[in-house]
Amino acid sequence: MAEFDILVTGGTLPDGTIADIGIRGGTIAAIGTLDGSTAGTTIDAAGDLVAPPFVDPHFHMDATLSYGTPRINASGTLLEGIDLWGELREIATVDEMVNRALDYCDWAVSMGLLAIRTHVDTTPDHLNTVTAMLEVRERVKPYLDLQLVAFPQDGFLRTATGAANVVRALDMGVDIVGGIPHFERTMEDGRASVRALCEIAAERGLPVDMHCDETDDPMSRHIETLAYETQRLGLQGRVAGSHLTSMHSMDNYYVSKLLPLIAEAEIAAIPNPLINIVLQGRHDSYPKRRGLTRVKEMQAMGITVGWGQDCVRDPWYSLGTGDMLDVAFMGLHVAQMTSPEEMRRCFDMVTQHNAAIMHLDGYGIAEGKTASLVVLDAGDPIEAVRLRPDRLAVISKGRIVAQKNRNDSRLSINGRPASVRRRHKVS
Ligand code: FE2
Repeated sequence: MAEFDILVTGGTLPDGTIADIGIRGGTIAAIGTLDGSTAGTTIDAAGDLVAPPFVDPHFHMDATLSYGTPRINASGTLLEGIDLWGELREIATVDEMVNRALDYCDWAVSMGLLAIRTHVDTTPDHLNTVTAMLEVRERVKPYLDLQLVAFPQDGFLRTATGAANVVRALDMGVDIVGGIPHFERTMEDGRASVRALCEIAAERGLPVDMHCDETDDPMSRHIETLAYETQRLGLQGRVAGSHLTSMHSMDNYYVSKLLPLIAEAEIAAIPNPLINIVLQGRHDSYPKRRGLTRVKEMQAMGITVGWGQDCVRDPWYSLGTGDMLDVAFMGLHVAQMTSPEEMRRCFDMVTQHNAAIMHLDGYGIAEGKTASLVVLDAGDPIEAVRLRPDRLAVISKGRIVAQKNRNDSRLSINGRPASVRRRHKVS
């Protein structure tokens, strides 16, 4: 009998170590020089980068791959996107949402993206969105970890059933408490929503991940309330603030007080550079603000910052491929993270840092960890961000789920030949 199920030989790990990796029963059984070992399948990495899988801590899978349905976002703004999605979610069936999401999961797998946190809209009383995403979570479980956030897109307090529906979604099995304080009717309602949602999380022992201050308004300061409620309720380490774009426009003195409060509360930050470079500054003439939160400044304070994707071909964003290296590439540019250490960190953000934000068990390339990894046609993490190269092999939980021959443009996913990313046309 072979010693390993899969043996990946001669790969370059993100820290530059050259090593063989032996996989047995869904676990990384050995790393090092494994000459003479036998395996059911051997993949020769031939010096290419072997990294832990990509992780996306912020996505909207109920809306993905719907671009153009029922119409296109003409203004390109967040608010028209919300209106458009409001139309779509009333006509989208559970089956249609499941199918779009499964298509996207194929895209993700092909890119080595094996864990996704998705916000699920809990606004419609039928909660078809929740029903669909719970089904998707089960169906992809063998190869992709999906975390669901109860997300009151139209407001927790702003709609009559916003609060009740978040609780219903959590009762149905959604994992995380979400929110959107900047979309409530008033600043005071925004603060009240943060308070109430954090109390729900504390009572149920759940994490929190809120869309927070996704606006160019420097007076949108709900992150301050989120930090306060996190420490008041003892939620340190379990809370994330997504977007935080208003921080781009805030007064520097106020930010100098705010960042230590975020650090003290151990709140993670999830900026989404592809979507926010598109959505923010739409009401500016010139100069137009970039609208990305203060990434390097937060990292200098010890705050964990990941990069999220947010949207792929949906009412808010017309492009996207499911490649977290695209996200890192855009983030690197907009945040001006151009030193070698910072470029390298951008790769770590879409792998290790995002995994830490999502509290993924068994993540990483080390003996005893889950056997999930990706072989990239690049030599090191900076080259990977620069080239956004082919994923030569993707292994999830001890199984090869996507593979591409260096000299062959065809791709296979879960054993099926595929060119999935080219197939999606605007209807
Ligand atoms: Fe989002």
